[in-house]
Amino acid sequence: MNEPMNIHVYEQIEELYHDASKRIIEHIQKHPETTLGLATGSTPLGVYQRFIHAYQQGFVSFKKVLSFNLDEYVGLDRHHPQSYYTFMHQHLFSSIDIPSSHIHIPNGMATDLVVESKHYDTKLSKHRIDIQLLGLGTNGHIGFNEPGTPFTSTTHVIELKESTRKDNARFFKSFHEVPQRAITMGIYSIMQAKEIVLIATGEHKAQAVFDMIKGPIHLACPASILQTHTNVHLYLDYAAAKAL
Ligand code: GLP
Repeated sequence: MNEPMNIHVYEQIEELYHDASKRIIEHIQKHPETTLGLATGSTPLGVYQRFIHAYQQGFVSFKKVLSFNLDEYVGLDRHHPQSYYTFMHQHLFSSIDIPSSHIHIPNGMATDLVVESKHYDTKLSKHRIDIQLLGLGTNGHIGFNEPGTPFTSTTHVIELKESTRKDNARFFKSFHEVPQRAITMGIYSIMQAKEIVLIATGEHKAQAVFDMIKGPIHLACPASILQTHTNVHLYLDYAAAKAL
């Protein structure tokens, strides 16, 4: 019998972000050498703001933290405004004390992306992730593991679904500028984390949230594999939890 997922549902989004960040910050306070798995997208921003605030107030230091980001677009220079490298520096890294040598983000501009994927997995295998922060795609993806991705996958290149490119088009000048491929930690890599904190908000996530929690464990909803993880915390607002 699997451990049940820990589901936290909130009316107030501020409280959701407060509690989810507190969980991670308290872990870092107790274990300064925490290895964090980090996500991009709109969802984690509330967590990153609270990390920065806690750091500025002197409550936490990220000096000994190691970070591994889930994914990066293929073909975007790291300094491109929409690269996840830029996103992470803008929204978190440039405002906290994490040393740049502790930051890991897959390189979507590597000449050999297979070698880059292996290289990323080697680094991951040396530093097991203590807490993995996740968002959720409207089609149930985690990282950029689109529906159909094998549960045994490690870091790899993925062809993005049109729906994902449309979801992310809001960050680009046009849909056509959204890269067609990404390099992402695999589902197996994500499942190695000791603890997973997934946040989903908004009614547009309600179906994916339902499939993740109540649906069959199936490749059609990559996040459904989290039902088999022994230490998952889901932070949902009322709208995202609507179908439960
Ligand atoms: C993006 C990212 C995911 C993220 C998801 C949801 O494509 N690769 O890591 O969780 O889609 O994004 P958002 O939080 O903006 O809804």
